[in-house]
Amino acid sequence: MSAENRFLKNIVLTKRCEKINPESIESYVNAGGYEALKKAVTMEPQQVVDEVKASALRGRGGAGFPTGIKMEAVLKTEVFPKYLVCNADEGEPGNFKDKFLMENDPHQLLEGMIICAYAMGMEKGYIYIRGEYIEPIRILKKAIKHARGKGFLGKGILKKDFSFDIEVRSGAGSYICGEEFALVESLEGKAGRPRNKPPYPTISGIYNKPTQINNVETFSNIPFIILEGAESFKGIGTKSSSGTRLISLSGNVLKRGVYEVEFGITLKQIVYDIGGGVPGGRKIKMVQLGGASGPLIPETMLDLELDYDRLSENNLTIGSGAVIVIDERYDVIEILRLIMKFFKHESCGKCTPCREGIRQILRILYKFGSNSATQNDLKLLRTLSNVMSETAFCGLGQAAPTALFTTMEYFAHEYTSRIKKPGVILKAV
Ligand SMILES: Cc1cc2nc3c(=O)[nH]c(=O)nc-3n(C[C@H](O)[C@H](O)[C@H](O)COP(=O)(O)O)c2cc1C
Ligand code: SF4
Repeated sequence: MSAENRFLKNIVLTKRCEKINPESIESYVNAGGYEALKKAVTMEPQQVVDEVKASALRGRGGAGFPTGIKMEAVLKTEVFPKYLVCNADEGEPGNFKDKFLMENDPHQLLEGMIICAYAMGMEKGYIYIRGEYIEPIRILKKAIKHARGKGFLGKGILKKDFSFDIEVRSGAGSYICGEEFALVESLEGKAGRPRNKPPYPTISGIYNKPTQINNVETFSNIPFIILEGAESFKGIGTKSSSGTRLISLSGNVLKRGVYEVEFGITLKQIVYDIGGGVPGGRKIKMVQLGGASGPLIPETMLDLELDYDRLSENNLTIGSGAVIVIDERYDVIEILRLIMKFFKHESCGKCTPCREGIRQILRILYKFGSNSATQNDLKLLRTLSNVMSETAFCGLGQAAPTALFTTMEYFAHEYTSRIKKPGVILKAV
């Protein structure tokens, strides 16, 4: 695949976006919509799961867990009822691609969910969406109503012995409710706080029943995989990362927006060829991948390819697909303080390493910001970050210091240059 082809937009997920009327089910159907569902219901449930497994689709919500393996675990668990959940919380700063999908092609998401429900024998599904997403909530509710009207949702779907319905539930703006167990707790009507793992939701999720939880973008890939086949999906992207990725491109870049790119594209191509580079010809100071919980890397690393394995070889991840460009006018410590303030606000307070660790990290960052930090503060910053990433109860606390780790590695000078010089001790006479 040539480099130019990797910029191809509209390949898998966005091919109908801005072409069809998202509020008209006829518009979706006329563009080939719900054909994948019609095909899926002629297949055995195991065949559907096998197709997703063969596609090597990985979850697009952040962790990149293989979707087919998750489905297989739910399929194999002989406990009923089983629940399906679409995670549309999208609360991490820098991410807005799920919003784009829900606003522009809501039926693609519904179709992906209905196919999964068919495969795993589910009757009830939820879309857990952040409360601030007023417009996507309206569009989704309308799409669900239309899908019921056409017999794609409700009882006896496509005249088969298969009934399934979807309910939209909105969160109240808490980032932690995107964490899968906090989300489950919130759906059950409790405060959104994580639970112990294992057991994972696939075994014991909503009301302790098997629950498949996937991201909006993950579900939206399913119709393509079923209709075109796993091999077609694997033909897009790289050997280790199949398909495309939606990128939320923001920050100091000319053309901010949501772009569908093929795995294998370099970060530099995303920032310069797609994003048009930094306004005013300024230089890039750093780029954050994945959102607030992601690594902050220098411009010299932008030659890296967007590929799960390539990034992980460099201890990096693309997370949920955000690329935030920060130009030379910004200060590393100041950006870190903003990031840690976000986590302080969003920490649920359940465990000590996260609740107290973030406060202490912020306190030390203020010292670096005012050039009053000591060598010992630098050591303490490292220790706190290590303790948090190793002992925090959930992914929020474990990932909160990621930007700290990467800046301590790639922007070490920003820390050492601010360490207070020891004062001259006058000899008493
Ligand atoms: C603090 C926190 C917030 C999260 N927020 C989201 C979110 O908004 N959307 C999402 O899909 N996954 C989010 N996740 C990841 C989910 O826990 C879960 O892994 C994901 O929904 C699984 O879907 P996937 O396999 O399709 O990626 C979050 C995780 C953590 C730790
Ligand atoms: S890591 Fe943070 S968000 Fe997660 S349980 Fe502990 S305090 Fe709550």
